[in-house]
Formats: sequence, C-alpha cells, structure tokens
Amino acid sequence: MSLNIVAGNWKMNKNAAETAQLLGEIVNQMPSGKEVEVIIAPSFVNLSQAVQQLEHTNIQVAAQNMHQAEGGAYTGEISASMLTSVGVQTVILGHSERRQYFGETDGNLANKVDTALKHNMRVIFCIGELLEQRQNKQHFNTVEYQLRDGLFHLQKQDWQHIVLAYEPVWAIGTGETATAAQAQEMHAFIREVIAKSFGEATAQNVSILYGGSVKPDNAKEIFSQKDVNGGLIGGAALSAADFVAIIDAVE
Ligand code: 13P
Repeated sequence: MSLNIVAGNWKMNKNAAETAQLLGEIVNQMPSGKEVEVIIAPSFVNLSQAVQQLEHTNIQVAAQNMHQAEGGAYTGEISASMLTSVGVQTVILGHSERRQYFGETDGNLANKVDTALKHNMRVIFCIGELLEQRQNKQHFNTVEYQLRDGLFHLQKQDWQHIVLAYEPVWAIGTGETATAAQAQEMHAFIREVIAKSFGEATAQNVSILYGGSVKPDNAKEIFSQKDVNGGLIGGAALSAADFVAIIDAVE
C-alpha cells in the first residue's frame, strides 16, 4: 500500500527568520494521529536550520533540486552529499519550474535520480503536462514519456525510494485545479504504465501526489480519490493554517 504524503514546496520564498517562524507555527498546529507523512522543502540556504528545528518532530525536510554531479566546477550548484551532510534525505526533482525556466531535460533528470539514489536519498519526481498538451490531448503521452525518460531505467527495487508528483502545469499557481476526476484519471494511468514495466506491486506501492492549486477547500475531494496519495503544495504551504488544514484533509 502506498503511503500518504503531504509535502510543502516553498519555492523561492521565506528568508531565515521567516522560515523559523513558519516552521514553528506548523509544528504547533500539527494535527496528531494522522496517517500521513509531512515533508517541507524550504530554500537551500535554510535547509540546515530547518533540519535542526524539526529534529524532534515527525516532519521531514526536502531540497527543491540538486545537481547530478558528485562535485566540481558547477558554480552555484548543490550536490547530493552537501544535502545529506546536513541531514536532508529527500529531494524534489523535475519540478515543472525547473524544466521550464532552467532548461532541465529528461536526460538531466535521469542522471539526477541516479545520483540521489546512489546517496540513499528519496526522490519526489514531478511530471505533468502543459495546457497546450492537454488541449491537444497529448497529456497522457507527455506524462508517459516523462516517466519513461526519467525513471524507467531504474531497477524494480529502486522504486521504493521514488515518490511521484503529478502536477499539471496549467494548475500550478493559477488557482485552477484539475478536477478530482482528472487527477484520478491521470494517477490511475500512471500506475498502469508503471505496472506494465515493473509489476502490479511496484505500481500499487508508489505514492502518487497531486500538485497544482491544492487549497484547504479542495484538498479533501482530491485526496479522497483512490489513486491520489496526498499532495505537493505550493502557495498554500506558505500559511501554517492552510498547510495544516490540507494535512488534516488526508483521510
Ligand atoms: P501551487 O500549489 O502554488 O499551485 O504550486 C504547486 C506546486 O508547484 C508544488 O510544487
């Protein structure tokens, strides 16, 4: 069975003091007794402080990106070992903003996934189509190729370290959400594609999160879909009350 996860992607928001403040508020308001793993991804420069602040809680810390090389002349980049050395065991890879604004390709991403797994990290791998691709009925194809190119070189056992996030690009930061039916349809398709190559058990065990304008008032309906195992939250993760309400919406 796949684990329920709610992850907050803070993107390029919150300085050091604001990070401490928001984490403190989330910890104080955290619902108890929920079967859900909570992950927060602040900016690189605040990861170390976040790990320390959350040390005695059940909240995990993730990075928003990582370079594929072990080290070297890559000005401005961050390696897997830099992340694990400050206690970060999870990394978001392939976010559509990285693909769109920073030219990340499926080839880069496959290498990043390999590097993360080599360092025993867990990967939250993002996939999702553009509006135009959905309008041209290319959304299933697009997502299938993102999966194949980024992840299908893996061995079956590697999948226990992979979490997927389906984030239709047209729903990110737009206030427009996929309907619960659209999310369910794509999540079921993703499981089917994985099952064909890696078997039913692998497909059933992978957590598939939905991302794109998840808010307290739509989270319950989206999360109640059979193949949706929680969410990757952007804007609403920047408010403790909203983020906690979204966590609370997990069944
Ligand atoms: P929003 O929740 O702001 O739409 O962002 C979603 C997202 O990109 C999470 O990674």
